[in-house]
Amino acid sequence: MSEPIVVIQEQTAAALERIAGASTTAELREAEVAALGRKAPMSQVKAALAQAGPDERKQIGRALSEARAAIESALAEREGLLRSAEDARAMQRDRIDVTLPGRRTPPGRPHPISMMIEWLVDVFVGMGFSVAEGPEIETDWFNFEALNMHADHPARTMQDTMFVQGRESTLVARTHTSPVQIRSMLATDGPLYIVAPGRTYRRDPFDATHSPVFHQIEGLAVDRDVSLADLKGVLTEFARAVFGPKQKVRLRPSYFPFTEPSAEVDVICPRCGGEGCGPCSRSGWMEIMGAGMVHPNVLRSGEYDPAEWSGFAFGMGIERIAMTAWPVGDIRNLFENDLRFLGRFAG
Ligand code: PHE
Repeated sequence: MSEPIVVIQEQTAAALERIAGASTTAELREAEVAALGRKAPMSQVKAALAQAGPDERKQIGRALSEARAAIESALAEREGLLRSAEDARAMQRDRIDVTLPGRRTPPGRPHPISMMIEWLVDVFVGMGFSVAEGPEIETDWFNFEALNMHADHPARTMQDTMFVQGRESTLVARTHTSPVQIRSMLATDGPLYIVAPGRTYRRDPFDATHSPVFHQIEGLAVDRDVSLADLKGVLTEFARAVFGPKQKVRLRPSYFPFTEPSAEVDVICPRCGGEGCGPCSRSGWMEIMGAGMVHPNVLRSGEYDPAEWSGFAFGMGIERIAMTAWPVGDIRNLFENDLRFLGRFAG
């Protein structure tokens, strides 16, 4: 056998072996260059063809083209194999498990306190009141002075106050929604019928029955000839809408600097229906708000002439009413935003 044919056979065997052993497409490219490239021994054989006789040239030529065909088909086959292995690896890496259960985002819904506010405010809106609002950070004047509570007034101790250092003066986190009475009077000429729901603050502990942040709804009616009977009528209407058609309202004399006379307002205990139970301390009554006739000094702060106008006002704590109406034993439940608790109040 002529020497070039031996070279071709050896080179072909070596190339096929190298192709079979290539484990990446890059290694395969190297094997291809080594077998068929310009510097490959087989390419040298081709250059030597010119010196060979016609028979030998034919033989060598055929051997060369057979070798080339064998190497090319081995390359193609190996390439196909390596590519599908690479594809399979990529599929494995980027795998998505379509059988995994989805993550469900529960739909949002109003907080129970928001629901309660909306419900209570609606009762007053049904009686012709409009909704007013005021800032949570107030000046001393709106929160106290204008409401007939002067700096040395002993009643200021009734409301432990959180102070806020403002740029020019000390401000207060409003201790009640009553400053909205003044803001509303200053904003309108009267008559005036408003309810003002909102957040209020006091230096109270955070325990089962207290929270330093809570909510109130303020009510204010100012008109000509408004009387205590009007107050009792409106509150009775309210109590019946909220706690049931047989409700009764009891006004107990009390004291607030901004009303005269002042009263605590009781309804028949919604828990026991008046029988007497733990929550109402066996009295059969449940206190739900403070109220009274607007003090003349307060009318003056709001630039209403007490000779012409009179009014009533009331203020109630939302959390207290919520805890009377719903089985909420601990006020903190209403602030901790545990979805398992909040989920019980379907809107
Ligand atoms: N502002 C009083 C409080 O927070 C409640 C109140 C409002 C009483 C209006 C009388 C009239 O305790």
